[in-house]
Amino acid sequence: MDVFSAMENRRSARAYLDKPVSRADVEDILHHAAMAPSAINLQPWEYVIVYGKEKDRLVRRLQKAHAERKISCGPGTAIPLPETFKNRSRRASKAMQPGVAELGLEFNQFVEQGSCSFYGAPIAIIVTLDRLFPKIRYLDVGLGVAYLLLAAQAKGLATCPIGLITAYAEEIADVLAISENKEIILGVALGYADPQSPINQFKTERENLDAIRVWYE
Ligand SMILES: Cc1cc2nc3c(=O)[nH]c(=O)nc-3n(C[C@H](O)[C@H](O)[C@H](O)COP(=O)(O)O)c2cc1C
Repeated sequence: MDVFSAMENRRSARAYLDKPVSRADVEDILHHAAMAPSAINLQPWEYVIVYGKEKDRLVRRLQKAHAERKISCGPGTAIPLPETFKNRSRRASKAMQPGVAELGLEFNQFVEQGSCSFYGAPIAIIVTLDRLFPKIRYLDVGLGVAYLLLAAQAKGLATCPIGLITAYAEEIADVLAISENKEIILGVALGYADPQSPINQFKTERENLDAIRVWYE
């Protein structure tokens, strides 16, 4: 698969087949994620791969934390977002809505509980950054994650980045014995997408380039 097809075809999957992913495939995906560029080649990203009984234990703990604290999805900004961004977010939710309705679920409940269970994917990846780094190093980790998502796509695997779980970082660190020196930045669900699930039937749209670029000459 060429890189453009991987970019065009990748989408976040929110229902997975009960089909294991081989350790060799995960290692190959991480090998390619590690090819991402980083400032002065610091390679600050770190990945904790969780599967099998450990993943079940992690999911149980996240679901318990969510049942107690019910933190919902949001942009995480102190002030409300301008309309342009709100509209993009609304359109993404609207695209998902029919699939969620077909599953007979309420939207927020589906996304929150689904995120906390990595949407049933066989592999949960926890992405961390050592706290010694300044926040600008999130950029490097983001590039690493982008490579990871595309490498998974190239291997016929599906992913969903999951930011919501960072609200329960303390619980995650506790279950997986992640050092307090590491900041938990993102979760990623990894597995084979369920092609039949109504929730995997949509593709989010993107803004026209006019909205995001300017040329000077
Ligand atoms: C940093 C980040 C955090 C995200 N967090 C969540 C999440 O918590 N739950 C979820 O269902 N999707 C999450 N997503 C997936 C986005 O909703 C998705 O990427 C976006 O709607 C675009 O759709 P696409 O990935 O199918 O192209 C996240 C994506 C990113 C990049």
